[in-house]
Amino acid sequence: MGKIILTGDRPTGRLHIGHYVGSLRRRVELQNSGKFDEIYVFIADAQALTDNIDNPEKVRQNVIEVALDYLSVGLDPSKTTIFIQSQIPELCELSFYFMDLVTVARLKRNPTVKTEIEMRGFGKSDDSAENFGTGLPVGFFTYPISQAADITAFKATTVPVGEDQEPMIEQAREIVRKFNSVYGEVLVEPEIMLPENSACMRLPGTDGKAKMSKSLGNCIYLSDSSEEVWAKVKGMYTDPGHLQVSDPGKVEGNTVFTYLDAFCKPEHFDKFADKFVGKKVSFEFHSLDEVKDQYRAGGLGDMMIKNFLYAVLEDTLSPIRERRKQFEQDIPAVYRMLQEGTAKARAKASATLDEVRRAMKINYFDDADLIAQQAEAFRNK
Ligand code: TRP
Repeated sequence: MGKIILTGDRPTGRLHIGHYVGSLRRRVELQNSGKFDEIYVFIADAQALTDNIDNPEKVRQNVIEVALDYLSVGLDPSKTTIFIQSQIPELCELSFYFMDLVTVARLKRNPTVKTEIEMRGFGKSDDSAENFGTGLPVGFFTYPISQAADITAFKATTVPVGEDQEPMIEQAREIVRKFNSVYGEVLVEPEIMLPENSACMRLPGTDGKAKMSKSLGNCIYLSDSSEEVWAKVKGMYTDPGHLQVSDPGKVEGNTVFTYLDAFCKPEHFDKFADKFVGKKVSFEFHSLDEVKDQYRAGGLGDMMIKNFLYAVLEDTLSPIRERRKQFEQDIPAVYRMLQEGTAKARAKASATLDEVRRAMKINYFDDADLIAQQAEAFRNK
């Protein structure tokens, strides 16, 4: 059996550095590792519409933004099939069949759905509450089912996602087991692939809040200019108790250090050493641990570590920004790429659906045996 990757993003905004360390960076490595037979990365516009019903224009505009973000981080359409979810009707078809395999009670217990119901103002998420999900669209409630269809239509073995998606993958696995036990071994149980370290699991916002989110205005976008990145880094949350350079500082919960944990590479110490020469405090460190020790001991100012972080971030972001500019010059070509990817993805999903229909005994017109047997039975009646 081949190794197949599938993952995707909702097009509700441009992608930010949280997406990058949580998922995009890994996807590009996996793509280039040569260890996978097929790789699918898709723009989950239909899923985005489940809680943006009245904002189709937002979803539409962000499809191209996400596609540009994909290309600029190094996803390569010759290795990775990039497609748009809504253009694959087989995914709706498979979701419809999966709906028979999942109970309402199980969906209500999905932790991600539970949190999101309240977060999005769809009512109470407590199962026993009288006003449970009073404003909850059925399509949103059932999106774990549709997500299971996204994954299984491609027979994905490996799904690289953030930890918030764990309940989704677990639910998909259950659906696969149920399907295969009722209809026979057709579908593949996917494995989740989580980010490599805890800083990457969930990068906090620049304000230190638990999550980067557009509505909180605490994101650094992959498409931000250098000036925007510096302005955001300069304003970042550090240790509120670290007032004087000489004061001991806290590293834990200090967003600048969390970002360094996620972005800093050993080579950055050589590369940026001279950047800080001539400043009041010279930045002579050879590892992030040394920087942290000095910060804890006192004598390392916030501006110094912010300058270093900025250099580290720019090392990653400036090539991404440059590539994005190039792709932005030819938007029709980006759409052609998406259209080709979608056609390729559709062929795969369609082949899986052929198997699914056969297993579910709803393949009437291409089942010559069925027609012959019934013809015989009725003749002999
Ligand atoms: N729910 C995912 C998110 O919000 C996006 C998504 C939709 C997805 N379908 C998927 C991710 C299938 C992985 C596999 O980020």
